[in-house]
Amino acid sequence: MKSVQVAIDGPSGAGKSTIAKELSKKLGFVYIDTGAMYRAVGLYVVNKGISIHDEAGVVAVLDDIDIDIYYKDELQHINLCGEDVTHLIRTPEISMAASKVSSYMKVREKLVDMQRKLGEKYSVIMDGRDIGTCVLPNANVKIYLTADVKVRAKRRFDELIEKGQDVTYEYVLSDMEKRDYDDSHREHSPLRRADDAIELDTADLTLEESIAAVRRIISERTGI
Ligand code: DC
Repeated sequence: MKSVQVAIDGPSGAGKSTIAKELSKKLGFVYIDTGAMYRAVGLYVVNKGISIHDEAGVVAVLDDIDIDIYYKDELQHINLCGEDVTHLIRTPEISMAASKVSSYMKVREKLVDMQRKLGEKYSVIMDGRDIGTCVLPNANVKIYLTADVKVRAKRRFDELIEKGQDVTYEYVLSDMEKRDYDDSHREHSPLRRADDAIELDTADLTLEESIAAVRRIISERTGI
């Protein structure tokens, strides 16, 4: 049977990964968190002491960056050059680094190629910024998830606090506003809703309601 592709795009904190993870489990699909791949590149660059603003420096080490995605206990893990960095990529510093390196075309080419191969091999729910517009333009279902930036920042702040990170709400909000701006104004594959994507605003929805709404859209579009 041909693989089924569900593309979920939107700004950070809209609920993409939580919803995609949950529904992949329910549907038996593979969940692909493409942001984690950009984060892994960001982490590599930071660890090597290369400035994230040095495009030529970043591009020069791209071939050395070996990213492997695998699944353990139904969760996506990401290995960077053989080391499991699943948790190391979730800091505010690496969020910023990911956003910056994701603006470089050569970085995007490498990761989009990996993402397309995964989308051909498996039935996937893939989340990111350019899945419906660029990575999987023929996806069976395209959803654009959004919510007011203050709501998204509060969700991300609560998540980081729960993980024991030392951040303030104001910091998370300004970080998110900057990333929203950068991700949607960059030259290559900026964040935008695909013309044929269904937009879902999750600001006034609970997580359960958001999951149910996305589940309904998938069902209407695919009969699954
Ligand atoms: O979804 P996230 O917050 O983990 O993504 C981190 C950064 O990676 C985000 O600021 C923009 C970039 N990104 C991208 O450019 N394209 C994608 N498909 C996914 C993420």
